[in-house]
Amino acid sequence: MTERAALRAGWIPVCPTEQLATDGRAAVDLPSGERCLVFNVEGALYAVSATCSHRALSIEGGPVQGTTIVCPWHKARFDMATGKGTRPAREPLKTFAVAVIDGTVCVHEKEGE
Ligand code: FES
Repeated sequence: MTERAALRAGWIPVCPTEQLATDGRAAVDLPSGERCLVFNVEGALYAVSATCSHRALSIEGGPVQGTTIVCPWHKARFDMATGKGTRPAREPLKTFAVAVIDGTVCVHEKEGE
């Protein structure tokens, strides 16, 4: 898929692939207004909502341990792949589809796969 076709299909560019490989994380504001966090964990890409499912506070900047992100507020731990979390969160963290298109990391607002 070309970048132009990807944009038409609703994919949102985040950053060059090399940048995510170096930094390990990036963030983007989606057209819906929701903020999305993108991670590169040992070469695998994950995209999750920046809004914790517990009290709707930001998890951006929360510590990452493997494929787990920890909410800095009340310490719920979320699996980046599934969004499944630990207490006090009762609902999973929203996940998004993520792909590399023409060397650019892109996310899609459809639920992650
Ligand atoms: S706001 Fe994230 S665990 Fe409470």
